[in-house]
Amino acid sequence: MTVAEDAAAAFRTQYAAEPSGLWAAPGRVNLIGEHTDYNEGFVLPFALPQRTVAAVGPAPAGAWSVFSTDAEGEVSFGVTQPGEVSGWAGYPAGIVWALRDAGFDVPGARIALASEVPVGSGLSSSAALESAVLTALADLGGLDLPVDRRPALAQRAENVYVGAPTGILDQSASIRCQEGRALFLDCRSFEVEQIPFDLAAAGLAILVINSNAPHQHVDGEYGARRKSCEAAAAALGVPALRDISVDGLPAALAALDDDVMRRRVRHVVTEDQRVLDTVALLRAGKVREIGPLLTASHASMRDDFEITVDQVDVAVQAALDAGAYGARMTGGGFGGCVLALIDADRAAEVTGAVDAAYAARGFTPATSWIAVAGPGATKL
Ligand code: GLA
Repeated sequence: MTVAEDAAAAFRTQYAAEPSGLWAAPGRVNLIGEHTDYNEGFVLPFALPQRTVAAVGPAPAGAWSVFSTDAEGEVSFGVTQPGEVSGWAGYPAGIVWALRDAGFDVPGARIALASEVPVGSGLSSSAALESAVLTALADLGGLDLPVDRRPALAQRAENVYVGAPTGILDQSASIRCQEGRALFLDCRSFEVEQIPFDLAAAGLAILVINSNAPHQHVDGEYGARRKSCEAAAAALGVPALRDISVDGLPAALAALDDDVMRRRVRHVVTEDQRVLDTVALLRAGKVREIGPLLTASHASMRDDFEITVDQVDVAVQAALDAGAYGARMTGGGFGGCVLALIDADRAAEVTGAVDAAYAARGFTPATSWIAVAGPGATKL
């Protein structure tokens, strides 16, 4: 069964009715631009083909219930305030709250969810869930909510309702990405450019390597990085680190007396430039040439932002040693996935090299697959 069939079957079993429709939203891989979003900088994600599907039908006004094939039991709620619904159901409850808080008349709904986005792997399974529910409720309610306003609402659900201090990367990717494109997003203006990203035509592929490293201290460390960046921007007298250019970096570093803060700033400022350089190369059709930028991004996350773990460092090095043009961790960090830019016909060799390196160190085996840029959130 496909994930869409799973969601529809779950709806029928749970609610003894046919759903009014099915809505899908993808997980994402961020090609480059890590921890730049909440610094109002640049990111370049693409949507995964793996999606979360919401099968949705009507319910009385002010009543919502959610069911997931990945969890026990149905969760029902009325109008709630941030934090009142916890666990996985807090994401859909947060979407209802964020829409209502923005003044929308949200229709009551019964929702059955099924997902093929790996959870806890840094591929934005929570954004996929939020975006599927948001898209469904916006359609069902006929809400006047343009696509470019949706990511910020989903982000509010996560920041305020669930209480995770994330940026706007994941929700933007899940909602605004297009098939065969990477999404160049300015996280200050929310302007986007859809960058053609047809790797197959260039004989290339992106191999995603899930390190399967246990996520540890993710929330606390993420929040600490964010606070450090905001404190640095305040100390430098700029609205956000986006406002420091690579040319202005030496002066900015000289003005800070904390070494940790200096390294955090250096990561963000150089990472923004790497996104711009990657976009310029892709616009010029020079895909293979982005490899060194990906690898430099990884070194910056490892040495300056300090968000990698052994498993991802080993996967990156093994992929490079096996001939990848570039490789880096993708997502928030402290585990999660690595992406490697490789010749399309070398996936088995690179995967084998990563597996051997993991076995030699006694790591839990990694899981690898080729990722092709899929569509953003949509009604099926
Ligand atoms: C997580 C967050 C995003 C972004 C990335 C790092 O995925 O949810 O907002 O900050 O980490 O780039």
